[in-house]
Amino acid sequence: MDYQIVDLIRKKRDNNTLSGNEIRYLVHQYAKGCLPDYQMSAFLMAAFLNGLNDEESTSLTHAMLSSGSVLDLSHIPGVKVDKHSTGGVGDKLSLILAPIVASLGVRVPMVSGRGLGHTGGTLDKLESIPGFRVDISLKKYVELVEKHGLVLAGQTNEMAPADKKMYALRDVTATVESIPLIAGSIMSKKLAEGIDALVLDVKYGSGAFMKTHTRAIELAQTLVDIGESFKKPTIAFISSMETPTGLAIGNWLEVLESIDVLQGNGPSDTLHQSTLLSGAMLLLAGTVPTIEAGIIEAKKAISSGKAFQKFREIVQAQGGDLSYIDRPDSRGTAKHCYPILSSNQGYITRLDAYLLGTLSVRLGAGRQQKEHDVDPLAGIRLEKKLGDYVQKGETLMTLHTNKDLDLDELERWVFSSIQWGASQAEPQPLISHILDKNGLRAYS
Ligand code: URA
Repeated sequence: MDYQIVDLIRKKRDNNTLSGNEIRYLVHQYAKGCLPDYQMSAFLMAAFLNGLNDEESTSLTHAMLSSGSVLDLSHIPGVKVDKHSTGGVGDKLSLILAPIVASLGVRVPMVSGRGLGHTGGTLDKLESIPGFRVDISLKKYVELVEKHGLVLAGQTNEMAPADKKMYALRDVTATVESIPLIAGSIMSKKLAEGIDALVLDVKYGSGAFMKTHTRAIELAQTLVDIGESFKKPTIAFISSMETPTGLAIGNWLEVLESIDVLQGNGPSDTLHQSTLLSGAMLLLAGTVPTIEAGIIEAKKAISSGKAFQKFREIVQAQGGDLSYIDRPDSRGTAKHCYPILSSNQGYITRLDAYLLGTLSVRLGAGRQQKEHDVDPLAGIRLEKKLGDYVQKGETLMTLHTNKDLDLDELERWVFSSIQWGASQAEPQPLISHILDKNGLRAYS
């Protein structure tokens, strides 16, 4: 059945409910190029302002998913599990947990995105390894899962193509931070990649798209409901993104930190989060009885060297030059590495993820416009973290950039991201809650 697009836009503008058929028509017409950007923009803004109910959100996911094909990995034995984060600063967890879980015999077909706004993207991080290819064909995608139990790829043209177009439009029409639109976008991509189960890391705080804990729980609930309605067991963690994950922000710097963690070193928050999410993936795959048992297996995969070997294996299989993984120093550094010295003394009571994310973009680690390239070597290496005591003159962080930037401006940026106190601030839990089909519970 055909509809008048203007009637559908008007319906949502007036806060009425669209049927599944109406949403499918709108989304498919847009994916086929039969609907102009201005009409889709008007619909997106109406949906942003008035919201979509649960049924409409599920219909939107269905419509975006059926705009392309759903990969069939059913011939590959075992439960295929992926993890997805709603985006953060210094969030390199996928690079660590995907090889951990795959090294324990669970298949991980992982489709990731690029950096968006102030947040980093797994694809940009992987591409900072010279030679690493994320743009692979569907045939190669399946082959990698069959042979290595792991693939780290970008969205192909076949996977939820409507999302690809709608996402680009949302980015330039101020309609990104909408729970139903984010949920439809994430879940259509995840369901297209052929998974059986999914772990989600839903972030809140200054460096996340959801600024409050309440909004993150609302998003997590929508994501879990959609996953379960597609019969894909889904577990969501609610985690804080007030301060960056780990010590590295920026593509190659984050690969270095991931190698460190996979070799049994690296910052404790990064190890903690990646083994926790790995534990949940192993639980969903049915290889362990509890998340805690999964965490123990994940830690063993690191200490035995299995996880790092799996990382090397997938880097090589996707064209990456292993010499840079085995001798990371050979990759070199950006032209400028500016240490920023503290002009204060005291405890760091706030280290703002959003401001450090935008600073890393300024240094070249992210995109200021969609068509820009990222600089693989640019970014920030933190020398001090939230809660640390700092003496005047100590190095707070080192800024890596190939651009000739005004150092005074960079210093002001760094100082504005930090708040000081005479004592440590009350520690906040990194992971506050878990949400699954049984409901929401505090994580301790
Ligand atoms: N990540 C996505 O894939 N889509 C969104 O809308 C936001 C974050």
